[in-house]
Amino acid sequence: MHPEPQQRRRAEPRRLSATAQPEAAKAVAAATPRPLPAQFASLVSDQIAFLRGFIAHPEQVGSVWPSSSFLERWLVRAAQAEQARSLVELGPGTGGTTRALLAAMRPEARLLAIELNADFHARLRARLDDPRVIVQLGSAEELPELLQRWRLPAPEVIVSGIPFSTMPKASAERIAAAIAQCLAPGGRFVAYQVRGHVARFLAPHLGAPRVRWEIVNVPPLRVFRWVKPAA
Ligand SMILES: C[S@@+](CC[C@H](N)C(=O)[O-])C[C@H]1O[C@@H](n2cnc3c(N)ncnc32)[C@H](O)[C@@H]1O
Repeated sequence: MHPEPQQRRRAEPRRLSATAQPEAAKAVAAATPRPLPAQFASLVSDQIAFLRGFIAHPEQVGSVWPSSSFLERWLVRAAQAEQARSLVELGPGTGGTTRALLAAMRPEARLLAIELNADFHARLRARLDDPRVIVQLGSAEELPELLQRWRLPAPEVIVSGIPFSTMPKASAERIAAAIAQCLAPGGRFVAYQVRGHVARFLAPHLGAPRVRWEIVNVPPLRVFRWVKPAA
């Protein structure tokens, strides 16, 4: 049984309504497809918000456009998201990748989505209505503390879009070490990046990744995949 479901969905529980829907009804509502015009409007709105975020903080957002549905599908597949019970997303942005993970996840699985940008975080909190996700404002550097704070087990999946090439080297090293330390044995770390810095930072911990290009994306980029050796 999941403790404190309302707190899990949103990381500032005091601001939540006490009269939340029952968990099962929420899961059904989250899984019900919306009409196409509503989906299109939401997509355009996400793209505008993303572009604004990039203009305000280019080095932090690292990309002008949210991930394509092709990239989202590949990330879900590379992560084997449907097999995991505990998942983490670093840098959910406007939530396209998060929704793709949620669509593949088991009903009892849980996803911790850590976003550094306060505008993206607020948007995710307002729009992601799924009891399986915790939307947390913070840095990937805090991964060990946040897993502990939300009492989550070692994740079998960590998916990351955070730009290792533009962040300070010391931060990148701390995040790489935290990912390798927190991932469950046999767990998958999947990172999507244009540049190869992520591979250099992870190599001392998890060795060489498998790499695949996804060209149907703006910009085309690489998907890096590691599997942590079983203990
Ligand atoms: C390339 S975008 C990916 C967004 C989204 N997942 C997608 O694919 O459309 C990178 C995201 O990582 C976030 N980010 C950058 N550094 C971060 C950090 N240290 N911790 C958490 N999120 C971070 C940015 O704010 C941005 O939302």
